[in-house]
Amino acid sequence: MALFTVFGNPIAHSLSPAIHQAFAAQAGITLRYTRSLTSTAQFRRAVATFFHQGGAGANVTAPFKQQAFALVNQLTPRAQLAGAVNTLVSLGQGQLLGDNTDGVGLVRALQHHCQQQLTQRAIVICGAGGATRGVLGPLLAQHVDHIFIANRTLSRAQELVAAVGDARVQAVTYEQLQIPAGALVIQATSTDQLPLADEQLASATAWYDMRYGAQPTLMMQRAQQAGVTQVYDGLSMLVEQAAVAFQLWHPELELDTEPVLTQLRAQLM
Ligand code: ATR
Repeated sequence: MALFTVFGNPIAHSLSPAIHQAFAAQAGITLRYTRSLTSTAQFRRAVATFFHQGGAGANVTAPFKQQAFALVNQLTPRAQLAGAVNTLVSLGQGQLLGDNTDGVGLVRALQHHCQQQLTQRAIVICGAGGATRGVLGPLLAQHVDHIFIANRTLSRAQELVAAVGDARVQAVTYEQLQIPAGALVIQATSTDQLPLADEQLASATAWYDMRYGAQPTLMMQRAQQAGVTQVYDGLSMLVEQAAVAFQLWHPELELDTEPVLTQLRAQLM
């Protein structure tokens, strides 16, 4: 039976095994998908051992995505752009391909589960860390109108803008941020308490929070109270980035992510 895993720390609560087992059941195949707890010092060896023992593919989550980027033999262009790897594919003879499915997962989640139009859309991304870097390229590829990256530390947002080198992307502080009317806001920070006033939030029409849980996040609740009508959590991105990884490993299989998202949502409650 083909063996897959997800490397992370912590990893005990990862939903990846459940998602991949649901995909496998839908596609009519069997696979083994485990959780691998490792450390920064042990990451390289853990990956090598996993693939040496016949592992077919792996996911990588926090805090190892940059380490995985540095470790692989080949990178897809979107992983190169993201500066991080969340999916490892064995190329045989100990060689690994690194991909990043987070950005395309977000785009698919927005389009297929949230009915959000991205072409010509004004986008605001809160946060300038790895999560934001991972999704900028795939969002820009959708011909969005422009992207404001709002961040507490302006210099980090400015560094991202310089790295992406696209005139449609601008860096701002939360105080400077004026959310354009009709904008889609993507919350990609590691905090659930952003310094945004209700008056700022009210201009958005949609709020996508990369976080998820049994309850809506605090920022989702605040956006809703401020009058944002379309508010979503990040579970759909989690399922879609997993689907893209699954299809890298099984290119011949078709997936329908909707029932898997429904099943996962029920499990979370
Ligand atoms: P990730 O890989 O999840 O993006 P990260 O690279 O550590 O993690 O980035 C975390 C993001 O959350 C950053 O944008 C960070 O803002 P700073 O660059 O100013 O640190 C943001 N963040 C974390 N705690 C925050 C807080 N209390 N208020 C506002 N932003 C916060």
